Amino acid sequence: MARSLQPALQISTSSPEQTRHLGRRLARLLAPGDLICLRGDLGAGKTTLVQGIAEGLDTDQPATSPSFTLLHQHPGRIPLHHLDLYRLAAADLADIGVEDLIGGEGVVVVEWAERLPPGFGGDRLEIALAFDPGREEVRHLRLSAVGPRWERLLRRLREENHAHPRD
Ligand SMILES: Nc1ncnc2c1ncn2[C@@H]1O[C@H](COP(=O)(O)OP(=O)(O)O)[C@@H](O)[C@H]1O
Ligand SMILES: [Mg+2]
Repeated sequence: MARSLQPALQISTSSPEQTRHLGRRLARLLAPGDLICLRGDLGAGKTTLVQGIAEGLDTDQPATSPSFTLLHQHPGRIPLHHLDLYRLAAADLADIGVEDLIGGEGVVVVEWAERLPPGFGGDRLEIALAFDPGREEVRHLRLSAVGPRWERLLRRLREENHAHPRD
């Protein structure tokens, strides 16, 4: 799989609201069939980011944190399939039919994407979220593109950030 041609886009947020705002910005770029893979420790802000994405897609309910359900589906402007693999057990992925959701009518966002089988998924946006070592409400997000569509969108985000760093 070809990796990102451009360096990762680094964005830091200093509150949950800023992370949700980034999610709403991302939602504006999304189209049916898109895949976003999120990595990062417990509490890094994955679900918070998904909340922003859900808002930006005008879904009916806010995204929620892990439960015993791996897949949460939200009807919206574009349907959101929110997958949380924290409690993934063998064979669950096949049961859910995730491969069929990707490239379908909705957008698929995966928390704990590091638990996906190697080689899973094609074009996608990957986002790694990390705590700041010193500042409690600061998170560092690294966005990288796999495939031409996300290469283009990442370039656009980078340009927007350059023009309006706080937007
Ligand atoms: N900049 C930030 N971005 C996102 N969450 C933050 C931030 N600062 C503090 N938080 C807090 O960190 C926690 C993140 O939780 P959550 O989004 O559920 O993480 P994850 O899904 O990665 O386990 C929340 O309690 C949130 O309020
Ligand atoms: Mg979560």
